[in-house]
Amino acid sequence: MRKIFVKTQNVKNFIALINSLQNKPDGISKMALVYGEPGLGKSRTALWLAAQNDAIYIRSTNLMTGRWFLEELVDELGEIPRYWTSDLFKQCVNKLLERPQMIIIDEIDYLASDQKTIETIRDIHDKTNVPIIFVGMTLAQKKLQRYKHLYDRLSDIVQFKSFSVIDVQEIISQLCEVEVTEPAVSIIHNQANRFRQIVRIINRLEAVAKTNNIELIDENILKEILKNESRQDFKDNKGVKQVLHR
Ligand SMILES: Nc1ncnc2c1ncn2[C@@H]1O[C@H](COP(=O)(O)OP(=O)(O)O)[C@@H](O)[C@H]1O
Ligand SMILES: [Mg+2]
Repeated sequence: MRKIFVKTQNVKNFIALINSLQNKPDGISKMALVYGEPGLGKSRTALWLAAQNDAIYIRSTNLMTGRWFLEELVDELGEIPRYWTSDLFKQCVNKLLERPQMIIIDEIDYLASDQKTIETIRDIHDKTNVPIIFVGMTLAQKKLQRYKHLYDRLSDIVQFKSFSVIDVQEIISQLCEVEVTEPAVSIIHNQANRFRQIVRIINRLEAVAKTNNIELIDENILKEILKNESRQDFKDNKGVKQVLHR
């Protein structure tokens, strides 16, 4: 399988959101939310876009407090965290005013119940006007909705949606090293709607293709592979031969 970052429709929507935030005039809120079910590529895209845009990427964790968050942010800004929380806050604001950088906070679900931390992040935004993007799951969106002040400030909201058949086509044609016909892609789209599931199928197709010298996976071969996944001779990738030579 090729190691390529695929620009799915979700990725394109995330890119558009960043462009939209960066083009907003001063004084207009630049906070946004990206949310969706797991396995659709939110974190990988956030990391990729952080690298592209020289942004700060912070992944929240289960035990994270407001103070811990500020320490991480100070650290990412290249400073040595001070002791007092008020100093940490000032360090963040001063550094961001001196050199503005977009901030992407992943797994915001962990912080979404902590009103103080969420409001501290909003204060950082209001004092510096740097774009801040929350990334989380569907539940995070519901939790954040409870903070009306904050939710109203979210100028852009993007939902990562299940892959369309065009997305799956794009993922397979870019990642899979063996060719797959359009009807076969359709079947995969019906069966798999997360990156991991699609990647598992691609690995399987490549293994079968290699063992059996197949250059094109059509719907018949695919159906046999999916149908017989638990059979031992198929696990060895050899059973397909019998299908092919029937
Ligand atoms: N655009 C992409 N191109 C290729 N692989 C991707 C892409 N997005 C995600 N992946 C892979 O899919 C898996 C799940 O992605 P992840 O970003 O963890 O999803 P989420 O954060 O939405 O749960 C990861 O193994 C990741 O490397
Ligand atoms: Mg994630």
